[in-house]
Amino acid sequence: MHHFHFHHGVLHAEDIPVPELVAEYGTPLYIYSASTWLRHYQAMDSAFAGVPHLTCYSVKANSNLAILRLLAQAGAGVDIVSGGELFRALRAGVPAERIVYSGVGKKRHEIHEALLAGILLFNVESVQELERISEMASSLGKTARISLRINPDVDPKTHPYISTGLRENKFGLPMDEALAAYTLAQKLPGVEPVGLDCHIGSQLTQLSPFIEALDRLMDFYRQLVARGISLRYLDLGGGLGITYNAEEPPHPTELGAAVAQAVQGTDLTIILEPGRVIAGNTGILVTEVQYLKQNGEKHFVIVDAGMNDLVRPSLYGSYHRIAPVTERPDAPPLVADIVGPICESGDFLAKNREIPMVAPGDLLAVFSAGAYGFVMSSQYNSRPRVAEVLVHEDKHLLIRRRETYQDLVGPEEDGLARLEELGIPSTQG
Ligand code: LLP
Repeated sequence: MHHFHFHHGVLHAEDIPVPELVAEYGTPLYIYSASTWLRHYQAMDSAFAGVPHLTCYSVKANSNLAILRLLAQAGAGVDIVSGGELFRALRAGVPAERIVYSGVGKKRHEIHEALLAGILLFNVESVQELERISEMASSLGKTARISLRINPDVDPKTHPYISTGLRENKFGLPMDEALAAYTLAQKLPGVEPVGLDCHIGSQLTQLSPFIEALDRLMDFYRQLVARGISLRYLDLGGGLGITYNAEEPPHPTELGAAVAQAVQGTDLTIILEPGRVIAGNTGILVTEVQYLKQNGEKHFVIVDAGMNDLVRPSLYGSYHRIAPVTERPDAPPLVADIVGPICESGDFLAKNREIPMVAPGDLLAVFSAGAYGFVMSSQYNSRPRVAEVLVHEDKHLLIRRRETYQDLVGPEEDGLARLEELGIPSTQG
């Protein structure tokens, strides 16, 4: 359920006609619905009401400060994977005791920052990382709470780039090494093992891989208990899929029920790290048609949003629904590639897509762009990153201004001014 609907033939974000937002903010434009954010967060959180739990929204899906503040005020914690995400979460007011820190490559300065902030726990992905955290915590006179991320070797049946819980992936510790790692963690001075963690992949559309991973984790948990290692947290990561096209992913309540059953009789607190299932359908990307073009049989609709603005179709071959912002029931169908202005053949939003005939100046909405949309955008081809707007009922707010040309070159100006230090004349002409 989301709040992007056609009224009288015009797409609205909550109560606001999309063309009004475009008139004010231009294109390309990311538009988010605050009510959808809250609804999706609550759907996920309440699905686990039967067990003690903490819903830690995965910041990587969409890290805008206003969004993080909205979720934090609704009670969410966050899952972070970098010092930058920690900085954002704290800046947005997420309490440190609701932050979990995942990721295979935590650097020293990032660990330091998280220790100073006093986050809930680190999801540790290797023995070397465990040792590094212990040493750094000890030297600060602290003890870091940790979970070990287990790689349960389960096939999530999703795109290979976003599957993470197979033995061949770089993530987590194989179960047979994890036992020794927990024993080590118990002995190390700077860490306290408090949990067990996994994340098997993203955009999962079946329940079975979750159940399989959960079963393996619970088996392993019982082995740990038998050895006197008692844990408080079980982190199941994120990964629930959404409907982009015709997918029928499980509802969060199905996962909630399965988890409640699996942890019955334990006093484990469940941690969840949902990203896409909360963020995905909260946002659209609006783009303006620039040109229509035909090369032989092939039709192209050239729009002003490129792979630098939304990379998912180019990178994963992902499907995003695309529709004109103003319905045109009488327009003949057109089958075309919808492409951006970037100088790469891989720059497309859709291939061989049937849409109603459009003309230059028309607006198209690219749906399900709330997760892994803006956050994966870049300035490639020196295109300033686009603006983000948050709508709530009949109100709207710019939550990230469109970048300027000056934003493109600002970080380079010092180097330009000092070029002579390399023996290269820096004066113009
Ligand atoms: N926790 C961990 C440790 C993760 O690595 C991820 C996602 C999540 C939670 C959140 O997963 P979600 O609930 O969103 O599936 N850029 C790709 C998705 C990459 C996901 C990476 N990890 C895409 O656009 O499809």
